[in-house]
Amino acid sequence: MLLLCGLAAALGACGEPAPRKTGGVGTARPGDRVTSAASVPVGSGVLVDMPGNAQLLVVQPQSGEFRAFNPACPHVGSLVNPPAGGVITCPLHGSAFDPSSGAVRKGPATSGLTEVAISVSGQDLLLS
Ligand code: FES
Repeated sequence: MLLLCGLAAALGACGEPAPRKTGGVGTARPGDRVTSAASVPVGSGVLVDMPGNAQLLVVQPQSGEFRAFNPACPHVGSLVNPPAGGVITCPLHGSAFDPSSGAVRKGPATSGLTEVAISVSGQDLLLS
């Protein structure tokens, strides 16, 4: 029964579906740890779960250069994917963004991703 309920929950038929994550820092505050620097691959990035059911996109375009963006696409708000092949893409309508700056490279989005200030502290990345 537990297995059936788990399958049904995945289909939205058993209990409440998990709330959809939003882009941003959620309830985190300046100085809070985002993730470890080692968890962010060079030339790519990761979506990091933040408190308050949010996600932040943390990238490392070049070794030792870390940036974070709100992954909510400026077009309609779908969460973008971590960089692959040198570009951040939105799975909903295909907008593309520069992983170094968040600038839009291809629409339909007409503006870039919003950067979130982070800093390196030892082995960790912190909200600034
Ligand atoms: S929501 Fe991202 S391209 Fe439309």
